[in-house]
Amino acid sequence: MTRELEVAAAKERFGQLLYEQLKRVDAINAAKEFVDLESLPKVIIGVVGGDGIGPSITGQAARVLRYLLADAEAAGKVEFRIIENLTIENRLVCGKPIPDGCLDSLKACHVVLKGPTTTPQAGDYPINIESANVAMRKELDLFANVRPVRVPELGIDWTFFRENTEGAYAVGSSGFDVNGDLAIDFTVATTEGSERIIRAAFEYARNNGKTRVTAVTKANVVKTTDGKFLTIFRRIAKEYPGITADEWYIDIMTAKLIDDDRRRDFQVFALPNLYGDILTDEAAQIQGGVGTAGSANLGKRYAMFEAIHGSAPRMVAEGREIYADPSSVMRAAAMLLGHIGYRGEQELLSRALDHCGRGDRGKVCTGRPNGATTAEFADYVTRTISRYAEERV
Ligand code: IPM
Ligand code: MG
Repeated sequence: MTRELEVAAAKERFGQLLYEQLKRVDAINAAKEFVDLESLPKVIIGVVGGDGIGPSITGQAARVLRYLLADAEAAGKVEFRIIENLTIENRLVCGKPIPDGCLDSLKACHVVLKGPTTTPQAGDYPINIESANVAMRKELDLFANVRPVRVPELGIDWTFFRENTEGAYAVGSSGFDVNGDLAIDFTVATTEGSERIIRAAFEYARNNGKTRVTAVTKANVVKTTDGKFLTIFRRIAKEYPGITADEWYIDIMTAKLIDDDRRRDFQVFALPNLYGDILTDEAAQIQGGVGTAGSANLGKRYAMFEAIHGSAPRMVAEGREIYADPSSVMRAAAMLLGHIGYRGEQELLSRALDHCGRGDRGKVCTGRPNGATTAEFADYVTRTISRYAEERV
């Protein structure tokens, strides 16, 4: 192919991406106000098991959730729906990150508790499909990925507001090889997309007595998109005069998270998608591992709650899935409870997880037969909740 033809073909593909992204911007601008779940007569909770260790850990987390919401369920105030078909096998058969019927089922729920789903890497399978998480975040416009990390004994209390639909992920599966020698990907920032995540971080800070919000970018190098994020951050920060707004680059921030003299200063973070992905794994590791951290994916209309880790195919291959630690998805379940207005139950579950996570070796999951099984750990959490609930009355 001549160079002109190669460039013309690439321009054509790039043009299509621009149309798609502009359409997305229109949709963001048209999105209505937040749906207030607390005023609904009934909240529908979808439970998606996912792949690998997902069905096991999510099944146990749903069991604990159901235990906490037993009265509400009996009174018809909440309904659980199991959504079974979001599996890697199904996605490969239909060639889509979310099978059609499954997307409808998800949209029929107000909130979803989701187990990890296997993300194929380019070349792993004959077809290249997008990650189910990423697709769900986009389809349901779940723009805020909220990831709390707390280590009280180290004075760490961080809440990350990771932008969830843009950055390197917006067209992460739509980059292309221009010719055999040149491959190109794109990163995206929009005004409204940046504003809404940054505002969410500042609102959270204001409503929770936090005094600092930190933007993390690489705006010195990635000048246009990260530059836009930072400019918007500075503008919005002016609306919150009582809150210190500071700026860090992602590279030095990864170092500062392990700097004991500095890290206690940070409280709330606002970051573009990929930096948020990376930094929250590091932060979770400081808390005890990615298996200990839950996350909320929030949009104006829908919300999805999940572990921050993957489906652990290695554990499954080694027959260890019954020993998988469900803490992260249980943390996500606690966030779900708070989101639908069950704050007392959220508190009970969070306290129980704080307590049980420090249990002795036989009671906690180690991922191996020397620890508890997923179901045993769930029993331990349930017993602890029931003890706390009795103490309350
Ligand atoms: C996460 C995960 C996902 C992401 C993967 C599974 C696509 O790492 O939720 O952080 O990159 O967002
Ligand atoms: Mg990640």
